[in-house]
Amino acid sequence: MAFELPSLPYSTSALAAKKMCQETLELHHGKHHNAYVVALNGFVEKDPALQGKSLDEIVKSTAAAGGPVFNNAGQHWNHIIFWQCMSPNGGKIPGKLEKKINEDLGGVDKFKAEFKAAGASQFGSGWAWLVLGKDGKLKVTKTANGSNPLATGEGKVLLGVDVWEHSYYLDFRNVRPDYLQNWVDNLANYEYAEAQL
Ligand SMILES: [Fe+2]
Repeated sequence: MAFELPSLPYSTSALAAKKMCQETLELHHGKHHNAYVVALNGFVEKDPALQGKSLDEIVKSTAAAGGPVFNNAGQHWNHIIFWQCMSPNGGKIPGKLEKKINEDLGGVDKFKAEFKAAGASQFGSGWAWLVLGKDGKLKVTKTANGSNPLATGEGKVLLGVDVWEHSYYLDFRNVRPDYLQNWVDNLANYEYAEAQL
């Protein structure tokens, strides 16, 4: 079965009050994410070795070699998570997650600073992540382009933020740090993150 573009869990105008405008979401979801899905399906159609595999299996099996199949499968995987990592009611950190952040990352302010620095320092395109590592501790990490913690084996994703220019240029122009500050303060769906613990 072909991979499909998932519906957004909110309307394209739902995050405008949180500084992610309707046009950003229309282009990012309807054009960019959709293009990754279409490209991935094209590769699967032509390669019997990919047929019948889950998205996770394709990401993991192509991670070492990289290349176009990995890039598009990775970006499909990343964006499926990204839409869930934002909410019109974002920004509020529930108690269980806050306790875990305090224990493992030295407090909410330190976590936000570290997460923002990871995204701001990712040269070119990529992602910043909050993951639960195999040691049971939270960790902030980053990946380039279409890669992700499933490919690197760094742990289970609680939050992921897209730092490709297409995710912030209409709202924040070239100022990626401001996009990231707004993201951690107002957009991040910490209920989703806590549910992954
Ligand atoms: Fe994106």
